[in-house]
Amino acid sequence: MREFAIYRWNPDLGEKPTYQTYKIDLNSCGPMMLDALFKIKDEQDPTLAFRRSCREGICGSCAMNINGTNGLACLTKIERDPKVASKVAPLPHMFVVKDLVVDMANFYAQYKSIKPYMQASKPPPDGREYRQTKEDRAKLDGLYECILCACCSTSCPSYWWNEDKYLGPAVLLQAYRWIVDSRDDITAERLAHLDDAYKLYRCHTIMNCAKVCPKGLNPGKAIAKTKQSIHAGHVV
Ligand code: SF4
Ligand code: F3S
Ligand code: FES
Repeated sequence: MREFAIYRWNPDLGEKPTYQTYKIDLNSCGPMMLDALFKIKDEQDPTLAFRRSCREGICGSCAMNINGTNGLACLTKIERDPKVASKVAPLPHMFVVKDLVVDMANFYAQYKSIKPYMQASKPPPDGREYRQTKEDRAKLDGLYECILCACCSTSCPSYWWNEDKYLGPAVLLQAYRWIVDSRDDITAERLAHLDDAYKLYRCHTIMNCAKVCPKGLNPGKAIAKTKQSIHAGHVV
């Protein structure tokens, strides 16, 4: 048997948040933290709220704080050592909607603000599609894999204190993904949009973002390259 302490808060009850403890027999549970949450919800407490969709690290919706570190519940193994308590909380410094579900509205509005789609002024040269060289395509590696789970942004102290004005590592990595895309024509506009004391320069290279990313990406590096590109006046 294994104990899990899960953050609970229901806005309709008007009570303070608490950690509720559940016991699970790990012999009849899948290996991941998402399996434990489902087992609790299915067998013990249907009122427990959490987000999930794909259960394989693709959709990004099961991001939460597990034993003090942000991660995806579907990719995080249940701690087997009975001496280590399993504690699950919502993503830090986010407004909680209910239990482990946080309000992502500000995060998505910030994502929208960087125009996360290709802007091409001319039709494709062959009339069919915008092609890239292998080298230009390779520049998107380490960027396109981002699933917008927000584990990085919600582990960044700069984002905790200024989430209204600082765009945070996830959105800045996505911004650089379009800056460095050879097919996009508004690179100068994208860089000018980010050249702001809060939007970009609140990153102080703390690097929590790279430590927690479940896809192994390095938003801090993308942010550094964006700063260098603004300084150089061209994409680096
Ligand atoms: Fe999630 Fe990584 Fe993308 Fe941040 S960079 S949103 S941690 S996938
Ligand atoms: Fe934050 Fe990552 Fe910068 S943790 S301060 S965004 S390097
Ligand atoms: Fe989709 Fe975990 S359920 S990433």
